[in-house]
Amino acid sequence: MKILLTGKNGQVGNELARCLQGLGEIICLDRTQMDLADLSQVRQVIRLSKPDIIINPAAYTAVDKAESEIDLAMRINAEAPAVMAEEAQKLGAAMIHYSTDYVFDGTKSGSYTENDETNPQSVYGRSKLEGEKAVAQLCKAHWIFRTSWVFGVHGGNFLKTILRLAQERDSLRIVADQTGAPTWARTIAKTTAAALQLGSVDHILATAGVYNLCAGGDTTWHGYARHVVTQARQLGMPLKLVPESIEPIPTEAYPVPAPRPRNSRLSTEKLQSTFKLALPDWCADLDICLKELIQDTNEKS
Ligand SMILES: NC(=O)c1ccc[n+]([C@@H]2O[C@H](COP(=O)([O-])OP(=O)(O)OC[C@H]3O[C@@H](n4cnc5c(N)ncnc54)[C@H](OP(=O)(O)O)[C@@H]3O)[C@@H](O)[C@H]2O)c1
Repeated sequence: MKILLTGKNGQVGNELARCLQGLGEIICLDRTQMDLADLSQVRQVIRLSKPDIIINPAAYTAVDKAESEIDLAMRINAEAPAVMAEEAQKLGAAMIHYSTDYVFDGTKSGSYTENDETNPQSVYGRSKLEGEKAVAQLCKAHWIFRTSWVFGVHGGNFLKTILRLAQERDSLRIVADQTGAPTWARTIAKTTAAALQLGSVDHILATAGVYNLCAGGDTTWHGYARHVVTQARQLGMPLKLVPESIEPIPTEAYPVPAPRPRNSRLSTEKLQSTFKLALPDWCADLDICLKELIQDTNEKS
């Protein structure tokens, strides 16, 4: 089996590059080898490499910047996945694509299922939804994994930002009225690999569809930040900030260009029952990742 993996330096791409080892020949690409903004290059690379499966974690993920870079966000998140899906279908290949809780408006009171109506409120959310629709329409054998609040050892994320700010400041104000599940990039990659171990293109075809893929449990950004600071202090990281000095604030007190869903909770029942997989709780994953991050920092200093 030949797998073409995009975005090898991203949070999820980096973990996928490791988790997919042993599943076949993995061609890992970064933006210098396949620029998703260059649609003819995307087509050409796929035609030359002839993969059995395209896995696409690469995306335009600068949520606020997307509000002013609409064309670029649409090209990378919607048009490039459309080209990949079209080429995959021509080759008889499958496509695994990643999407986001931002396809929803966040007004539902419970967890979102895959059948809930989408209603993105931002350019990023709209671009990701267009990408989902294109993949589903153009490539029969597809999995679209919707995830949320991704963190990891590699790349930029909320966890690393909080750790940095907690070293620099003695107080913080964090939004406390948006709820979701912080999800480790490694769990996304491991789950993808475990699903693939059950079968290749035919299996993807038989189980084609959208699946929510996020950690168990939920929290707010404020709860998340408090947990990070509490755990990091327990692990001996020298921080100025104490958890009690993180002030909960409403969304309105932290204005940003792109509106965020208030409720980002995703039900993972469909994924767990289809692939017979269990997903860890966000805190359990975060604690392991935090230990790795602190170990890395100690080794470097
Ligand atoms: N991050 C989150 O909180 C979050 C939440 C929900 C869903 N998701 C979705 O999960 C998936 C993985 O996200 P992530 O957190 O791993 O994202 P990430 O860390 O921001 O990585 C995105 C990757 O895409 C690559 N990329 C961007 N523009 C490109 C271009 N023009 N050509 C080729 N590659 C390009 C980046 O390359 P460079 O390394 O060169 O920049 C990077 O490797 C995405 O589909 C995202 O929409 C993410």
